[in-house]
Amino acid sequence: MRVVSVINQKGGAGKSTTVMNLASVVAEHSRVLVVDVDPQLSVTSWATTAEELPDDRRLPFDVVAETNVQVLAQLRGADYDTIFVDTPGNLENMAVLKAVVANSDFVILPTEPTALAMLPLVNTFKSIVEPGGVDYRIVITKVDSRSLVDATDAQDELRDAGLKVCKSYVRSYKVHERAPLTGQVVTTYDKTRAAEKAGADYKDVARELLSIWANQETR
Ligand SMILES: Nc1ncnc2c1ncn2[C@@H]1O[C@H](COP(=O)(O)OP(=O)(O)OP(=O)(O)O)[C@@H](O)[C@H]1O
Ligand SMILES: [Mg+2]
Repeated sequence: MRVVSVINQKGGAGKSTTVMNLASVVAEHSRVLVVDVDPQLSVTSWATTAEELPDDRRLPFDVVAETNVQVLAQLRGADYDTIFVDTPGNLENMAVLKAVVANSDFVILPTEPTALAMLPLVNTFKSIVEPGGVDYRIVITKVDSRSLVDATDAQDELRDAGLKVCKSYVRSYKVHERAPLTGQVVTTYDKTRAAEKAGADYKDVARELLSIWANQETR
């Protein structure tokens, strides 16, 4: 059993989108739970929308909202192979975030590849992830397809700063932006060209992370 939390104090970095899509890919081969720790309940309402879809479009994983620190400390007892935890885009409830990290085997830090996004990302890493001593990767998201060099530049910059970054990254696609409103995830997207490309990005990130996890011991 592996608990993976997705964290960045910067709002809109792609946390919820990353949680839902990685959960859908990982759920193709194992039992997955998503825990919504964000009082905005973004992934909970995404999942509620998905319940209205036909059976073959339903989410292939469970979603629960939970902010109680004691319950979060016992996540490991749940009967799933992988638990993804979506967290808020601020540090208002530091106790909850610290409890989440303390009970995680791995942290994913999604970030846009912009200069303004770097400071909150590094702050999140230094204040929450590094003190927790947990393995992590930064995942670059929302990359403009017309300027892929933004992604590779950001990766280089972060690696030069000594941080661990996934090789694969996620481009920006309208289909991802609409997904919370339609209740879809990459594994249930329509078979359009854009949706296939959008899905391929998250599948690549999932593959890279799964191979890291295959060589990692859980707590
Ligand atoms: N790869 C992408 N392509 C296009 N739009 C994206 C992509 N990733 C995220 N978005 C959009 O960007 C916005 C922010 O994404 P998301 O909600 O996943 O971020 P977040 O970090 O969870 O935000 P918050 O901090 O508010 O919880 C949303 O409108 C989402 O649909
Ligand atoms: Mg969110």
